[in-house]
Amino acid sequence: MLVLSGGHAGAASKDSASKQSCAACHSEFSSLLPKAHPPVTGKDVTACTKCHAPDKEAKAKPKPYAARLHLSHAQPGAEVDCLACHTWKPGKTLGVKGTKANLGVLSKEGMEETKKIFASWSSSKYLDAHHGKKNVTCSACHEGKVPEQGDSVENARCLACHGDEEKLAKKTEPKDFPDRNPHKSHLGTVNCTVCHGAHKASKIYCLDCHKNFNMKIPFGEGPQAKPAAGGKAK
Ligand code: HEC
Ligand code: HEC
Ligand code: HEC
Ligand code: HEC
Ligand code: HEC
Ligand code: HEC
Ligand code: HEC
Repeated sequence: MLVLSGGHAGAASKDSASKQSCAACHSEFSSLLPKAHPPVTGKDVTACTKCHAPDKEAKAKPKPYAARLHLSHAQPGAEVDCLACHTWKPGKTLGVKGTKANLGVLSKEGMEETKKIFASWSSSKYLDAHHGKKNVTCSACHEGKVPEQGDSVENARCLACHGDEEKLAKKTEPKDFPDRNPHKSHLGTVNCTVCHGAHKASKIYCLDCHKNFNMKIPFGEGPQAKPAAGGKAK
């Protein structure tokens, strides 16, 4: 059961002591976990880390454990302090309490940026939050490293989950004008990120030159916006 002081997660988050104490919001964790999950005892993140060692391999696949610990807590209004679970030496190491793992390096400025992106990933109207809902964490896209300012993602990492280019192109071949395919054109191979923003709106590059093409993209804005299809990865 979830116990919220003041009856509201936002209220609990206002003073910084409660931002760090799990007990301010939870009396136990077992009822929050998947049905068949083994029983859990403990009052902080070490209740999890004694069985779940931090994942440093970070393959291109959804990671429900890491996603669950971040999604609810990074929502605007909850904003549980990162240091409730992490140890952090600015510019040196980002660790997980109760373990010796070093996940990577995060500077002071990097931490501010990262917090904003966590909030976006947990609840924005962009591609990042669509992935968050499917348990695709930062490191599932950012090749296992703690992302920093200026980072992007290579096509191969996106395609590891979304099938090869041919397959993708087949899915998006328009019936009326088959050669107006965003994934197969006279441009050849284009970076996915030229059109698909992750932490910002997506934008169709073709339309820079072809004003008359009627094309839409998921998580685009204005006339380019297309509702997410909920299609399967691969
Ligand atoms: C400010 C309030 C607050 C604090 C502090 C807090 N949590 Fe949470 N936590 C939440 C909310 C809200 C949810 C979503 C609850 C739900 O889905 O019923 C949640 C969900 C969870 C879940 C289930 C995640 C899921 O979606 O499957 C776990 C596990 C969890 N918290 C662990 C912790 C741990 C460990 C700490 C301390 C390091 C902590 N929480 C501190 C508010 C808080
Ligand atoms: C007693 C050992 C143990 C503890 C403690 C534990 N887990 Fe687990 N957890 C498991 C096992 C075993 C599985 C199933 C195997 C797997 O998927 O890794 C699992 C699976 C999960 C899954 C589903 C993963 C998936 O890939 O579908 C989530 C989410 C999860 N645990 C969250 C937590 C959280 C959050 C905590 C701390 C509050 C926690 N666990 C504590 C043993 C544990
Ligand atoms: C409730 C506990 C908890 C909170 C709160 C939390 N983390 Fe984590 N975080 C973890 C654990 C545990 C891992 C290791 C997950 C794994 O094994 O993959 C992790 C992993 C990470 C990673 C590695 C990348 C990834 O995608 O797996 C980053 C970066 C990170 N956390 C940053 C943050 C930041 C920034 C905040 C605050 C906005 C935050 N965390 C809040 C528990 C937490
Ligand atoms: C770890 C696997 C993984 C990685 C890496 C990944 N995605 Fe996804 N992506 C998914 C999943 C899962 C969905 C949700 C599919 C569903 O709704 O069933 C999704 C959904 C999408 C959608 C929305 C499709 C729709 O239904 O409208 C787009 C667009 C997308 N991804 C693009 C990208 C791009 C671009 C990258 C690289 C920057 C990327 N993805 C990286 C797993 C991944
Ligand atoms: C679906 C894949 C995907 C996921 C999930 C994802 N990112 Fe990103 N990230 C990208 C792409 C693509 C870019 C390049 C810029 C853009 O398109 O928004 C990027 C850029 C960044 C940057 C550089 C921003 C800049 O302006 O220089 C940071 C920092 C970052 N991501 C952090 C994170 C964090 C933290 C998380 C997890 C909370 C995360 N990302 C989750 C794909 C992803
Ligand atoms: C020139 C712009 C552009 C580039 C570059 C691009 N895309 Fe797309 N993408 C789009 C548009 C537009 C759509 C919507 C197409 C539609 O729904 O008919 C789309 C749709 C998608 C979808 C959803 C497909 C579905 O099932 O409906 C995925 C997944 C995707 N793109 C992944 C990628 C990946 C991965 C890359 C890089 C290898 C990439 N895109 C490069 C414009 C682009
Ligand atoms: C930098 C400008 C530019 C961009 C970006 C661009 N094109 Fe073109 N495209 C042209 C030019 C120039 C021609 C040849 C002149 C013409 O027929 O309009 C052309 C011709 C075409 C044609 C054949 C003529 C027609 O109008 O049907 C198609 C189809 C086409 N482009 C599709 C695309 C698609 C799909 C994209 C995005 C993946 C794209 N183009 C991006 C400049 C561009």
